[in-house]
Amino acid sequence: MCGIIGHVGEGNAIDALLTGLENLEYRGYDSAGVAVQNGSGIEIRKRSGRLSELKTSLLGEQLEGEVGIGHTRWSTHGPPTDENAHPHTGATDDVAVVHNGIVENYAELRERLREHGHEFTSDTDTEVIPHLIGQYVAEGMATEAAFRRAVGELEGSYAVAAMVSDERAIYAARQGSPLVVGVEDEGVFLASDVPAFLEYTDTVAYLEDGDVAVIHPGGIELTDLAGRSVTRELRTVDWDPEQTAKGTYDHFMLKEIHEQPTALAQTVEGRVDRRSGAATLAEFEPGDFAGIDRVQLIACGTSYHAALYGSLLLNDAGVDSRALLANEYGDRSPPVDEGTLVIAVTQSGETADTLSALRRATAAGARTLTVTNVVGSTATRIADDRILIRAGPEIGVAATKTFSSQAVVLALLADRIARDRGDDSPLGPTLVSALKTLPRQIERVLSSTDAGAIARRYHGSRSYFFIGRGLGYPVALEGALKFKEITYEHAEGFAAGELKHGPLALVTPETPVFAVFTGEEDARTLKSAEEAATRGAPIVALCPADHRATAVADAHLEIPDAPPETAGLLANVGLQLVSYHAADLLERPIDKPRNLAKSVTVE
Ligand code: F6R
Repeated sequence: MCGIIGHVGEGNAIDALLTGLENLEYRGYDSAGVAVQNGSGIEIRKRSGRLSELKTSLLGEQLEGEVGIGHTRWSTHGPPTDENAHPHTGATDDVAVVHNGIVENYAELRERLREHGHEFTSDTDTEVIPHLIGQYVAEGMATEAAFRRAVGELEGSYAVAAMVSDERAIYAARQGSPLVVGVEDEGVFLASDVPAFLEYTDTVAYLEDGDVAVIHPGGIELTDLAGRSVTRELRTVDWDPEQTAKGTYDHFMLKEIHEQPTALAQTVEGRVDRRSGAATLAEFEPGDFAGIDRVQLIACGTSYHAALYGSLLLNDAGVDSRALLANEYGDRSPPVDEGTLVIAVTQSGETADTLSALRRATAAGARTLTVTNVVGSTATRIADDRILIRAGPEIGVAATKTFSSQAVVLALLADRIARDRGDDSPLGPTLVSALKTLPRQIERVLSSTDAGAIARRYHGSRSYFFIGRGLGYPVALEGALKFKEITYEHAEGFAAGELKHGPLALVTPETPVFAVFTGEEDARTLKSAEEAATRGAPIVALCPADHRATAVADAHLEIPDAPPETAGLLANVGLQLVSYHAADLLERPIDKPRNLAKSVTVE
């Protein structure tokens, strides 16, 4: 995790660095720091805590420099202290480094450097990098050669940016952690992610593993670790800076929940044939999936819940499919062969667990495909094929609109795969017509005040349970994950029928049970809800207005009438709002929940 920003250009870099860090804070917020260089030395300011702490400490200070790097940290080695905050320096203050990733051989490198008299002031793995660069410069190497040699010795993952006290340049390299360059008239940016500099430029080039960049005011030199020149395509991203601002919303999460109708319209646009009721997905040639016998979906967290949703729809369409947790996908994962399609579902395209599962699947001979929101992300480059979910930037750490867009893309894929195989896919016509009304139906859920009232009514409960059946099951899991993530209250999701096999022991009048009805064997879900109600649990039913569950439930969160394929997504929007309002009542830092980060780039 962690966010990196760098800028080389005309004028003072400090504003661009602080803006960049603000836009990257979703990647970690344990500490923040900047280093600037004005030709006569490097000045570093860093603080544990949120970026606001650093900004306050900079008030009234004239920190200036035309070259600068910055960092926002999600701690891996060492607690979030001022000492462990980046940038780090070497034996002298002539080299400053920021780093995202994990240097696995840092202990060994430290030992070696200690033998040369180096002393370390932090607990981080990163600190070895400026020491190594400084050591090689002291031995007579030019900065670029010293940088190359230092990063060449690192094992593990890194996106590194370094600067030295007497050059107007930033040296950068990546291996396993993202780095993107942004080019504008007045200079060049370097960052972990595009929103960092989107206010300044939308012209970007994504670095690839093994790339080394030397960034000057006039441009970028790109080579591989051995020094051979490489080129990376410059492209224009079509994200609007407005999309990455909170606007009139109190939190990014609420904004992103409300963006779902638009996001889903973008997700679906041009991907369905309304007349024949089929998913088209023109990204793929006709018959492209004809040889697929089975599908494995790999993902983590919320994306895993979307993967589960997708696998159920694939099975419905007649395609043998399973969703698997990426971090469990290893030696004991189910077999793959040339008829297996492995789909990595990852909003960021940078989740280390998912990338590593994707690499394992490739090595085992599977065909791979990634479903992601981020153009140019690592997953798009290591998978054989890619589909963008087009949800627009998601800044809130808790994933909301990307879940809906992932689930819809997977539903479209399920229809398309089944058709290519010649299966009689029953999914298409219902799905295509349901997707047409889905944005408007989501608007209805968004305009209701039910969720806020329910959050207030059950505020202070001991635990919160979420149950569902069929497509309602991944929604129950996702409802619980969202709730615990942003409220810090205990919440669990269960398959409705499992309640009686153990969890019922936890049910009391202080444990509201949210029951998701998607129209799939609702009578059985209702029975499970009634079993909880008999033990005194308040029941919140997510279902249409005339549903018989409303007669049993203590509270009702109305979901418009829809087929199961989209009813679960509508219920999920309702649950997102309940979690949001519950967290707001508890005054939690909703967009940046403790201990979490948007993009988990460590295994
Ligand atoms: C939860 C959440 C996480 C992510 C998970 C995978 O709200 O955001 O559970 O879903 O870390 O991230 P991606 O989708 O980027 O692979």
